[in-house]
Amino acid sequence: MPRTEKAKKLSSLTKSQARKRVQELREAIDRHNYLYHVLDQPEISDQEYDRLFRQLQNLERELPDLVTPDSPTQRVGAPPSQAFAPVVHRQPMMSLANVFSEEELRAWARRVQGALGSQRIRYVCELKFDGTAVSLTYENGAFVRGATRGDGVQGEDVTSNLRTVRSIPLRLHAKRVPRFVEIRGEVFLSKRAFEAINRDRGAAGAPLFANPRNAAAGSLRQLDPKVTASRPLDVFVYGLGAVDGLEVASHEAALAWMKSAGFKLNPNTAVAGTLEDVMTYVTRWTEERGKLPFAADGVVVKVNGFRQQAELGATSQAPRWAVAYKFPAEQAETRINDIKVYVGRTGALTPVADLDPVGISGVTVTSATLHNEDEVRRKDVRIGDWVVVQRAGEVIPEVVRVLTERRSGSERKFVMPKTCPECGEPVHRPEGEAVTRCTNAACPAQVLGRLLLFGSRGAMNIDRVGYKLVKQLLDRGMISDAADLYGLTNAQLLTLERMGEKSAQNVLDSIASSKKTTLPRLLYALGIRHVGSHVAEVLADHFGDVERLMQASFEEIRDAPGIGPTIARSIAEFFQQSENRRIVKKLLAAGVRPAAPRKAEYRGPLAGKRVVFTGALARLPRTRAEALAKEHGAIVGGSVSSKTDYLVTGEEPGSKLDRARKLKIAILNEKEFEKLVRS
Ligand code: IVH
Repeated sequence: MPRTEKAKKLSSLTKSQARKRVQELREAIDRHNYLYHVLDQPEISDQEYDRLFRQLQNLERELPDLVTPDSPTQRVGAPPSQAFAPVVHRQPMMSLANVFSEEELRAWARRVQGALGSQRIRYVCELKFDGTAVSLTYENGAFVRGATRGDGVQGEDVTSNLRTVRSIPLRLHAKRVPRFVEIRGEVFLSKRAFEAINRDRGAAGAPLFANPRNAAAGSLRQLDPKVTASRPLDVFVYGLGAVDGLEVASHEAALAWMKSAGFKLNPNTAVAGTLEDVMTYVTRWTEERGKLPFAADGVVVKVNGFRQQAELGATSQAPRWAVAYKFPAEQAETRINDIKVYVGRTGALTPVADLDPVGISGVTVTSATLHNEDEVRRKDVRIGDWVVVQRAGEVIPEVVRVLTERRSGSERKFVMPKTCPECGEPVHRPEGEAVTRCTNAACPAQVLGRLLLFGSRGAMNIDRVGYKLVKQLLDRGMISDAADLYGLTNAQLLTLERMGEKSAQNVLDSIASSKKTTLPRLLYALGIRHVGSHVAEVLADHFGDVERLMQASFEEIRDAPGIGPTIARSIAEFFQQSENRRIVKKLLAAGVRPAAPRKAEYRGPLAGKRVVFTGALARLPRTRAEALAKEHGAIVGGSVSSKTDYLVTGEEPGSKLDRARKLKIAILNEKEFEKLVRS
């Protein structure tokens, strides 16, 4: 049907006919989504699906008041959020205790049986999907919120992005729909999708994702949901969080309910009546994991009965009724074609083995880190060697050992270059250190690395300024430091490869919006050695503005809570260099406005107080207790000094307690701390 004719037909519908048609289309699209993305059994062609989708879009465009957030058209296109709002999970998202051998797994099962006495135990065995955990909240059947795990207590709101994941139902299909339910699952990318993304990134000269897990997490935490939508993310759900209005007695029943509600479950889940059945499952998947189309890094074994789960309970970190058996690192043999040297942001030279491509746990590995010169010597790795490489979970592939028996005699030893492979200036390896560094702060590789850090998510968060753009800007001399980004013009950007009016404007907007930032972000963005995001927060709390920090002496910095002499020296040296001071001034002059921590807003008893924690806390995970203190305006430090206001003690407090007593600092136990927070 020609476009105009169709439009006419739609607009000739009465309002109530249109409403009915919208409803029908949504149901049809949801059903086909489910058939395609969850069951992998499509009933209609992609073209037919697109046709339904466009019809719905047209109707909604004409009658915008019929648009609801759970409409399938809303999976893409929500406006990019500036950052992710915090979400407190109604039930915390715990982690799992790991075991690394069958023996440890049997020991876990013995403890479980010991605690449950003579009760019969059934186990559910699942694969441990190597992606990123999410919690999906449904209220009266509608998907209202999706969050990352975060610290387990509080995650980030990534609802718009999760709406783009086709295997997440926007409405529950089940007969029994609870008033409230948190569904827990793992968002992941297939191995194929992961490799395709990396191929594209490689072609574009962008840094590669190390593994499918990082790629999935990175895709989920995109500020623009359109980017997430362009990545074929998928989800397997594996459990329930808080539930209100649904009775289920076992994990098996919970899985069955989730399936009936329209979620995608992994088909390789099995119920085991005996520990031997569990072992058979573990052995099978240790051998066959390579055949899976997605990455799995282990097996999760769960006690099936919810009453039994409740009886077993949890430690502060993990339930006692579940355990993760981690697969041993997978290894493969391949040849080293070359050893290249990469120069990082800090000037560190890292030797990297260029390998004959080899598949390990379903991922094609083409390079492996050799860490540093000493490692190359210790393992006696030579160019041309056959080697064993391994990938263990999240880490970058590494060379385990050389197959010396396969040497032909033509292998060549690696020599660390005397000059930087990027800028040709001399390199230096300080006495007692393993790392060789390029000594030229203006080295293009270092400048590039610093700029990428500056724009990165945890720093100034300039999402449109990635590797490809920065590289072009540097190569063409349009920028030479981070502050130059703020002086870029539309006309300059338009001279770059494949840069249209719209993209140029997006880049400028994204740079401009980064001016409004926070002090910790700016401090982190400067790339001072030893200043990660945590140290940056501490510094921001203590100094309040960047100019004060710039003028502070080594001693003043060292006296900030939680800052030791190594960090203090590094910061003082950084600001002694006039070039660095110049860049900071230039940033401020360009309009970068780092907001100081909002200390003044807190009025409670913890506002502005310096709090130190020691010993194991029984009621809250330590990170959570620290976060709580910070949320109430406290400055959390690592060590007790005369400036500390409170020392909060858990079990077996260490030397901090003695020091606090000596300095006559108020000492609180966990309950007293919580009381203070609540007051
Ligand atoms: S259950 C309270 N089941 O592993 C138990 N987790 O270290 C909660 N994961 O954060 C976890 N596959 O992201 C469970 N089949 C599975 C899983 C799984 C992957 C992840 C999950 C969690 C982490 C625990």
